[in-house]
Amino acid sequence: MSKNIAVIGIQWGDEGKGKIVDFLSEKADVVVRFQGGNNAGHTVVVNGKTTKLHLIPSGILHEHCINIIGNGVVLSPSALLEEIIELEKHNIAPRGRLYISQNCPLILPYHITLDQTREKAKGSSAIGTTGRGIGPAYEDKVARRAIRAVDLFDENNFAEKLKTVLDYYNFILTQFYHADPVDYPKTFDETMRLAEELKPLIVNTTEKLHEFYRAQKKIMFEGAQGTMLDIDHGTYPFVTSSNTTAGGISTGAGFGPRYVEEIMGISKAYTTRVGAGPFPTELLGKDGDSLRQKGAEFGATTGRPRRCGWFDAPVVRYAAMLNSLTGLCITKLDVLDGMKTIKICTHYEYRGKKLEIPSTDLNTFAACKPIYEEWPGWDKPTAGLQDYDRLPQAAKNYLKRLEKLVGVPIQIISTGPARTDTVVLKQQF
Ligand code: IMP
Repeated sequence: MSKNIAVIGIQWGDEGKGKIVDFLSEKADVVVRFQGGNNAGHTVVVNGKTTKLHLIPSGILHEHCINIIGNGVVLSPSALLEEIIELEKHNIAPRGRLYISQNCPLILPYHITLDQTREKAKGSSAIGTTGRGIGPAYEDKVARRAIRAVDLFDENNFAEKLKTVLDYYNFILTQFYHADPVDYPKTFDETMRLAEELKPLIVNTTEKLHEFYRAQKKIMFEGAQGTMLDIDHGTYPFVTSSNTTAGGISTGAGFGPRYVEEIMGISKAYTTRVGAGPFPTELLGKDGDSLRQKGAEFGATTGRPRRCGWFDAPVVRYAAMLNSLTGLCITKLDVLDGMKTIKICTHYEYRGKKLEIPSTDLNTFAACKPIYEEWPGWDKPTAGLQDYDRLPQAAKNYLKRLEKLVGVPIQIISTGPARTDTVVLKQQF
């Protein structure tokens, strides 16, 4: 039984982490986000009711759970407050058990304007970002000009920083992109109004987290996006702007690598991707459409249709290595119910050479040919099953093959969107 666990997406995001984190947080005391921002979209179904979370950790849906937004997260004050109010409408009270790091760089309106303006200007070479200002906010952090959560406590200091940063952004917006500038007084007033609501939640979260750790609380680290979207290890430049891999926990929450005990990788039983960039096992046309419809593969944040394809073992194998995975969770097995045959990409071929993991050189990756095995499907549904022994033999064979190809044991299988649609092979916590 572990005392803490990280849950990491090991494809291109949208692996169903929300449901698994929600499922595991029933037993967790603390849930921590450590990277990304409100570009994430977790759809969780509780008692038949769908809730979408973008920024607040999924643990918020359990009354006993403390939730932490670590310093590695870029924080939009308006998105956060909207989410708090939405949860309150559903009789869930985040205030009092949600802490925000004082070091979080803020996402303010000029980040969103620049993100969207830049994407538009790029035309067909656009990244396909979520348009939430994530990239520009991380750029400010690294350029050491970010306005951080702690800056909301000193109005004069905030006014001065905002003026400097906005001058810089408005120059780029008007002179380089020939777009409209962002209004200073409006941004100032609006942010100060939001600050009054958020200030009680802003603390030194690293200190808090270590207090919980010393008190032997059960801690879960909730990854956002997926390994292939990692700024360093993903399919650059078609990536997000943070480290989505397990290493991000240390920097993004102030929790040293030696303290993380279990690292569970979440993967769908097939593959999806939103946004642009190479995707070797992508299914185009009718086959892709049918997987998309069956799996309801439309983005939780933007509603965009997701690109769908077969399970890509090189991607998951690469993720196992990068994240030092201790276990796998396979989600959406039920989406494959009723298929006659199912393909698995075991490796790629590139110029006659066998590749076991993806190349991070975009041109090489785009030219990789997926090499498939074809496995028999199953007629009896897996949807809603909770007991491994009741899975059809063909589904068990399929899962065993994935496990062997990746080299990491499967510990959880998800057979539907509800909390109860879950097969647990190894108890966490
Ligand atoms: P950004 O994170 O908005 O800058 O978008 C960069 C890339 O990451 C785009 O391809 C997005 O579609 C993708 N992305 C960002 N967040 C998510 C997510 O939560 N799931 C899947 N893809 C995401």
